[in-house]
Amino acid sequence: MSKRKKSTTAFKKANKFIPGGVNSPARAFSAVEMDPIFIEKGEGAYLYDIDGNQYLEYVNSWGPMILGYNPPQVIEELEKQLQLGTSFGAPTEVETEIAELITEFYPAVDKVRMVNSGTEATMSAIRLARGYTGRDKIVKLEGCYHGHGDSLLVDAGSGLATLGIKGSPGVTENTARETIVAPYNDQKAVAEIFNKYGSEIAGIILEPVTGNMGVIAPQRGYLEFLREITYKNGSLLIFDEVMTGFRLSRGGAQELYAIEPDLSTFGKIIGGGMPVGAYAGKKEIMDYVAPLGPVYQAGTLSGNPMAMQAGLTTLKALKKEDVYLELEKKGQKLEAGIKKNIEELNFPAYFNRVGSMFTLFFTDKEVQNYQDVKECDLDLFAAYFKEMINQGIYLPPSQFEANFISLALTDSDLDKTITANYKALNKLKAEL
Ligand SMILES: Cc1ncc(COP(=O)(O)O)c(C=O)c1O
Repeated sequence: MSKRKKSTTAFKKANKFIPGGVNSPARAFSAVEMDPIFIEKGEGAYLYDIDGNQYLEYVNSWGPMILGYNPPQVIEELEKQLQLGTSFGAPTEVETEIAELITEFYPAVDKVRMVNSGTEATMSAIRLARGYTGRDKIVKLEGCYHGHGDSLLVDAGSGLATLGIKGSPGVTENTARETIVAPYNDQKAVAEIFNKYGSEIAGIILEPVTGNMGVIAPQRGYLEFLREITYKNGSLLIFDEVMTGFRLSRGGAQELYAIEPDLSTFGKIIGGGMPVGAYAGKKEIMDYVAPLGPVYQAGTLSGNPMAMQAGLTTLKALKKEDVYLELEKKGQKLEAGIKKNIEELNFPAYFNRVGSMFTLFFTDKEVQNYQDVKECDLDLFAAYFKEMINQGIYLPPSQFEANFISLALTDSDLDKTITANYKALNKLKAEL
């Protein structure tokens, strides 16, 4: 498309030197059969591409940019740190400060270990769960994505779901065999797994509210059930809050649903736009990690001062009283507007939202699990994506993803989105 000529040229060149032209498959726009858009800069709720086009944006760098792009307070702290040094490989006080703040937000957390990505966080949490319990098996839920660690690359959401990949070559059969998969929101399936393997299960890991197969909330009693069955079987409950942490509330999904997991993993917002992940939990479990305990995990750039400053400043901004109320209000406005459009047009679509995460599913059924998402009309999704991007609204380019609302979105941005949604659905309706 001539409107994005420079992006097309940049993508051609990138393909020569980078597999698929991207450094993470979800960015490739494969599901919507378009070339990805190359970004020059972000500002508030908007992204600008290298052709000079402006986009109102709901990807938020896949979640981290809850304050919007380039928040002045984060930039200021980064500039200060830049003058002091970008990496030391030795302790800094900011690491303790951010860890302390996290324990304040999360009552289930006494200690935090910083890593460089969500993947590292979940990989390390799994290793710790295995080391701590002395058991090998991990239960994961279909459609949940926990990064690209070997143990968790089975029936995963996000890029794998988008590309229709069930597992990955390169993961050994033995590793895959230790991962048992159950459908999300299905108590019976989990009960059967625990009946059969209870004493071998180190833990169950899940996105407490899913984002990587689109947004799906846990059914009433589901998280309580998982808490109870893991407790009874001496297995650990691991909430992967890489996406939901600091987003659904200050204390993540665990605060929203009042469930205390044994281990939590974080990423995205915790780094304020810099590459950070963390795993965290009660002292008794976390002290099992080296140098105190036998479970080894380390990182040259872990707790990097630039990343810690960006994370800490972002978390401090989220401490302000009305932040989550404001996000909820924005979410409610968008939800009301889009649901009204769906109703008025009698369009076969289903809108799911929890706080500042939402997904518009192209189906006329309620969406409760991965199977439901797989039954969505993916061609219709792709057509919708194109209609929206052509109106300057940049959404995640896959049905199997969450949209994110940032604090930078104004009422008029939301109105613009609702109007664009109406136009897009109306156009697609005529072609149904
Ligand atoms: C819930 C969840 N866990 C883990 C990850 C992996 O994080 P990263 O991409 O930083 O490795 C993601 C990434 O999207 C995620 O959403």
